[in-house]
Amino acid sequence: MFNYVGDISELSHHIIRNFCMNKNYAVDATLGNGYDTVFLYSLFKKITAFDIQQEAIESFKSNYGNNDTVDLICDSHSNIDKYIKEKADCIMYNLGYWPGGNKDITTMAYSTLESLKKALILLNSGGIISIAMYVGHNEGEKEEAFIMDFVENLPKNIYGVMLHKYLNRSKISPRLIIIEKK
Ligand SMILES: C[S@@+](CC[C@H](N)C(=O)[O-])C[C@H]1O[C@@H](n2cnc3c(N)ncnc32)[C@H](O)[C@@H]1O
Repeated sequence: MFNYVGDISELSHHIIRNFCMNKNYAVDATLGNGYDTVFLYSLFKKITAFDIQQEAIESFKSNYGNNDTVDLICDSHSNIDKYIKEKADCIMYNLGYWPGGNKDITTMAYSTLESLKKALILLNSGGIISIAMYVGHNEGEKEEAFIMDFVENLPKNIYGVMLHKYLNRSKISPRLIIIEKK
């Protein structure tokens, strides 16, 4: 069992827990099974979570109940700016498809990029965006290429961008991008 390199989701939680400057408001851009939302719930005062699948929203409600702290939105995260008007301290993306669900319903390169551009504007100073990427399927590969091309060109006086990638695992093992806003 590894403590640090075991799992990129755990790693993203560790980074957010320790390095996100304020813990007021967080966005989970991809609800899925809700593990990231539950993690955010343990730290932040208020959370908004998106998923395009009503099933994911209903599953979260039946597993964790309805509460005032978590606002669940059944829409694409590419419309993030329609719903969120305040600065967010953390925005999490766990890309791909719902584990155990329909693999054809997956995050898509163009809409992820659209969402990410809006997320950067919504991100508070001292805030963090985490992006967990799964490159082992066609759309995931395309998505990674789009995201990498975009984040590599972010102005370094405002954003710090790091890639976490396994070097001694499969070439298609998941990877994690962290963006911190000054
Ligand atoms: C890998 S899962 C997320 C895992 C989740 N964060 C967790 O903790 O279990 C990806 C989720 O993104 C959702 N999704 C796909 N495209 C989306 C979009 N454009 N906007 C919001 N959610 C999307 C899928 O329905 C799926 O539930």
